[in-house]
Amino acid sequence: MTRITVTVDDVSYTDEVEPRTLLVHYLREQLGKTGTVVGCDTSNCGACTVHLDGVSVKSCNVLAVQADGSTVTTIEGLATDGRLHPVQEAFHECHALQCGYCTPGMIMQSIDLLRDNPDPTEQEIREGLEGNLCRCTGYHNIVKAVQYAAAGGAK
Ligand code: FES
Ligand code: FES
Repeated sequence: MTRITVTVDDVSYTDEVEPRTLLVHYLREQLGKTGTVVGCDTSNCGACTVHLDGVSVKSCNVLAVQADGSTVTTIEGLATDGRLHPVQEAFHECHALQCGYCTPGMIMQSIDLLRDNPDPTEQEIREGLEGNLCRCTGYHNIVKAVQYAAAGGAK
């Protein structure tokens, strides 16, 4: 076992983990952060996307020990004072989900995309989200939600 200290959603945790433990399993099984989900076993779907030191990563593709000393933000850490993050709000307003399984990862990836490019074209949004799969929506409303968030939300 290896001891790690990680700040997750503004709380510091020190835990013993096996060196092979994936970050997504650490988040879900040791910390109870089940808002981050597993949708595949091939690093394809993006459902497990979180921010590691401010950059989106597929947490099934990162070892928990690699997050030692880092800051992780999950979908559960986005809301502040009971208010949704603007990108969460945009997904809600634009009906950008159906089953919702891809949504945590889509939102985390969308935030990263908008941080890099606050005014993306539709094509740039589609390319920025190409690592995140959705089986339900056909992506149309997801793209609309990112555009809505980029435009500053409700007018
Ligand atoms: S669960 Fe991580 S990419 Fe699918
Ligand atoms: S809303 Fe069902 S997978 Fe995206």
